[in-house]
Amino acid sequence: MNLHSFICGAGCRRLALVLVFTSLVYRAVSEDAQYEACAPRSCGYGPNIRYPFWISGEPESYCGHPDFEITCGGMLPVLNFSDSEFFYIKEIFYANHSILLVDAFVYHDTDTCGAPRHNISFERTPFNLSPTNDDFFFYYNCTSQPPDFTYPVDCASNSTHHSFAVFHEDVSQEIYLNSVISTCDSAVSVHVDVNNSTSLATMNYSAIMEMGFLLNWTAINCGNCEESEGRCGFKNSAFVCFCQDGPHSKSCNDGKWMREFFLFLLVD
Ligand SMILES: *[C@@H]1O[C@H](CO)[C@@H](O)[C@H](O)[C@H]1NC(C)=O
Ligand SMILES: *[C@@H]1O[C@H](CO)[C@@H](O)[C@H](O)[C@H]1NC(C)=O
Ligand SMILES: *[C@@H]1O[C@H](CO)[C@@H](O)[C@H](O)[C@H]1NC(C)=O
Ligand SMILES: *[C@@H]1O[C@H](CO)[C@@H](O)[C@H](O)[C@H]1NC(C)=O
Ligand SMILES: *[C@@H]1O[C@H](CO)[C@@H](O)[C@H](O)[C@H]1NC(C)=O
Ligand SMILES: *[C@@H]1O[C@H](CO)[C@@H](O)[C@H](O)[C@H]1NC(C)=O
Ligand SMILES: *[C@@H]1O[C@H](CO)[C@@H](O)[C@H](O)[C@H]1NC(C)=O
Ligand SMILES: *[C@@H]1O[C@H](CO)[C@@H](O)[C@H](O)[C@H]1NC(C)=O
Ligand SMILES: *[C@@H]1O[C@H](CO)[C@@H](O)[C@H](O)[C@H]1NC(C)=O
Repeated sequence: MNLHSFICGAGCRRLALVLVFTSLVYRAVSEDAQYEACAPRSCGYGPNIRYPFWISGEPESYCGHPDFEITCGGMLPVLNFSDSEFFYIKEIFYANHSILLVDAFVYHDTDTCGAPRHNISFERTPFNLSPTNDDFFFYYNCTSQPPDFTYPVDCASNSTHHSFAVFHEDVSQEIYLNSVISTCDSAVSVHVDVNNSTSLATMNYSAIMEMGFLLNWTAINCGNCEESEGRCGFKNSAFVCFCQDGPHSKSCNDGKWMREFFLFLLVD
């Protein structure tokens, strides 16, 4: 006597079909509230925001990781690592865990015409600078005249003191440029993810910084959960995979084999 005929008498096949059917219907109508709440959203303009990112001030903070809070500023997504450094998010590449940012002062700091006065460090953030960025240097109050291929910063220059920006590769190649740099007061370096299909020579320093720079991040991988059509989140300091049938610990397939095993026994 096999297991099947032991637990399943005549008419079992019909019962099994009914069970399978009701389980399918149940799955199609039941939508977990947290799963629903963690649908990708946006600030109005800009990229989709989903795990590990979440929008500050909304009750659904569990849809992201605590370190990846985004604020909506004028319908644009903004990231900040301190009270004074704010970055617009141009693009989020979820596939390779990287994010394209533009420093907000490029648009807003009219006193300095959007020319940076401080180096920025990403050391105490969950992000790393991508090696694909180019270094873009600003030199201020130089007493020699910079060469033509540099980008003048007119608002910080007068007839005797010159300020300009230049890509790092150019610095290492030009002897004359190096002698100019030795006459400058201060230097600041920023990072630019150069779009090769643009003509850098016709741009000014602010257009160059508006291309943005790339950071990458490491967060608990959401791949298994997303492949099982779940949405990742973080609750009580633990990773959660929100699924249509409720929260799971890693992926929506967790525990599924149990249900399917019993259905298999019945149908077989
Ligand atoms: C981002 O800026 C806001 C407002 O100034 C501040 O309350 C928050 O602490 C900042 N976030 C970080 C990580 O410093
Ligand atoms: C991630 O992918 C995007 C789109 O393909 C690409 O532009 C970006 O450079 C990549 N990021 C890194 C860090 O390579
Ligand atoms: C991010 O970039 C750094 C180099 O700056 C690299 O060492 C690291 O592996 C990258 N991390 C990810 C998750 O791609
Ligand atoms: C240029 O020099 C002046 C006078 O020494 C100083 O006030 C100003 O802060 C300097 N500019 C920069 C960007 O260092
Ligand atoms: C040019 O700027 C420098 C530094 O800001 C200042 O010391 C100098 O007096 C200025 N020169 C003229 C001619 O305005
Ligand atoms: C900024 O960093 C560059 C090197 O990356 C350094 O030469 C420069 O002195 C730094 N500037 C300030 C103001 O710390
Ligand atoms: C690069 O610049 C070209 C021309 O301005 C633009 O069409 C394209 O979208 C840019 N690519 C990226 C990745 O920003
Ligand atoms: C863009 O140009 C830089 C050097 O100017 C090069 O290192 C990089 O590989 C190029 N990127 C692409 C996508 O062609
Ligand atoms: C840079 O060029 C753009 C136009 O291409 C212009 O709107 C902007 O004011 C310029 N910025 C500076 C600092 O000159």
